[in-house]
Amino acid sequence: MKVARHKKRFNASNLDIRETRLDDLPKIFVLGEKLFTAEKWPVLYRSWDQYELVEFFLADGDFCFVADYDGEIVGFVFGTLFEKRKKAWIYGHVSWLGVSEDYKGKGIGTRLLKKLTDVFIVNGARMMLADTDPHNNDAMAFFQKNKFENEVPHIYLSKNLTDHPHYIKQRRLSIRRKIFHRKRVKM
Ligand SMILES: CC(C)(COP(=O)(O)OP(=O)(O)OC[C@H]1O[C@@H](n2cnc3c(N)ncnc32)[C@H](O)[C@@H]1OP(=O)(O)O)[C@@H](O)C(=O)NCCC(=O)NCCS
Repeated sequence: MKVARHKKRFNASNLDIRETRLDDLPKIFVLGEKLFTAEKWPVLYRSWDQYELVEFFLADGDFCFVADYDGEIVGFVFGTLFEKRKKAWIYGHVSWLGVSEDYKGKGIGTRLLKKLTDVFIVNGARMMLADTDPHNNDAMAFFQKNKFENEVPHIYLSKNLTDHPHYIKQRRLSIRRKIFHRKRVKM
């Protein structure tokens, strides 16, 4: 059962879904850090960091939107458009979508997704793609409600490279370089 956690009454007419501005980025970053934690979604293959955010904004700024509620950033969506080789279709990918815990269940995610969908269509997209951890119940319910279907399970595998002989060699080399550099600086 969903619980409305926001104390103040939510007035949807004060919510503005607008393009992302440069000065929104720090607020989006802080919000994303609360939502996309490695402990929560360990198999997320992309990581939420400043570089990811800035790269998206610079490369795909036309597909970055925020939910602005009386000047507070309460949600955001970042998407990207791409073509597959030898396929005529253009795809729109919902790369990062997040709504503040305090504002969940108020239709904000839906409005962000709708905005992104409209802009994708204007830019020629014929299909939209999204991916999430199968245990992310909120996101699964959200995408299903928004008519995303044909779920394809995907397995992520990992390999720790820190025992690899080449890794150990590289590491030793870089430590030696650092020691050498420090000695030279002191001289
Ligand atoms: C997934 C997320 C973006 C949904 O945002 P939201 O603003 O709460 O979603 P909406 O209020 O627009 O919900 C739309 C519909 O999705 C479904 N839904 C969303 N959250 C749900 C939940 N916790 N439980 C059950 N259904 C849910 C409901 O069917 C809902 O429609 P209803 O309110 O008429 O029942 C938000 O929960 C979130 O930020 N999660 C963390 C980040 C994340 O996982 N992002 C997605 C992958 S990048």
